[in-house]
Amino acid sequence: MKLAQRDRLFVLTGAGVSAESGLATFRGSGGLWNGYRVEQVATPEAWEADPALVWRFYSMRRREAAAASPNAAHRTLARIENRLGDRFFLCTQNVDDLHERAGSLRVHHMHGSLFQSRCEGCPFLVADTACYESEDSLPRCPRCGSSLRPRIVWFGEIPLDMEGIYRRLDAAAALLVVGTSGSVYPAAGFVHRAVALGIGAMYIGPESPANAEAFDEIRLGPATRELPRLLEEIGAG
Ligand code: APR
Ligand code: ZN
Repeated sequence: MKLAQRDRLFVLTGAGVSAESGLATFRGSGGLWNGYRVEQVATPEAWEADPALVWRFYSMRRREAAAASPNAAHRTLARIENRLGDRFFLCTQNVDDLHERAGSLRVHHMHGSLFQSRCEGCPFLVADTACYESEDSLPRCPRCGSSLRPRIVWFGEIPLDMEGIYRRLDAAAALLVVGTSGSVYPAAGFVHRAVALGIGAMYIGPESPANAEAFDEIRLGPATRELPRLLEEIGAG
């Protein structure tokens, strides 16, 4: 991957960047929670049917993410951002805060954030690290009394700020995708949009993603090994 002096880099990350911090990916082995598939707990239908189950799942994920630390992949992305400044944009599908804790500033969480809750009935949005694990302690909105839900984009819901994402992607000279299976849209389609616009695209991860054929280059390996190598190569940009 070559970046000229003024080139912008758009990075898309998925669960694979946090895998080496000990957070389970969705589709790998261990991608189950108490025997449930993610699709059974991360949907508006699941929330409708059993909010206590959904809160138990996200409480567990809050606990695990809070106990995890950023790894060399998160840190290397923060170093690349440090060099590129405003020419860097990181769009993550991850809801953990490990990119921020590694020092990334220009991060957009397209699938929401684990440590925020929002009201179902009004625009109330709040930072929230609490765990809600019993039926009778489920949180309510202090403003309107409706249920508070995790601020997560579930299957069937629209990711946050797609317009801003496409504006950044369209302005980029290169797309770097790290640690995502390429099976969940719209994120899995970013590479196809990049190809249509003539933007070079590279994938990093231990396995070929489902949308592999669209990439110009695929580097098979763990993100903590491949990202530092890439940083060496692109130098000061
Ligand atoms: N370094 C880089 N990539 C890795 C590593 C690693 N050390 N370990 C695993 N991976 C890769 C796997 O090869 C796989 O391609 O991470 C990817 C994880 O894929 P998924 O579990 O499908 O996660 P992701 O693509 O982020 O899921 C997308 O689906 O469930 C929804 O909203 C959820 O944001 C999530 C979305
Ligand atoms: Zn409310």
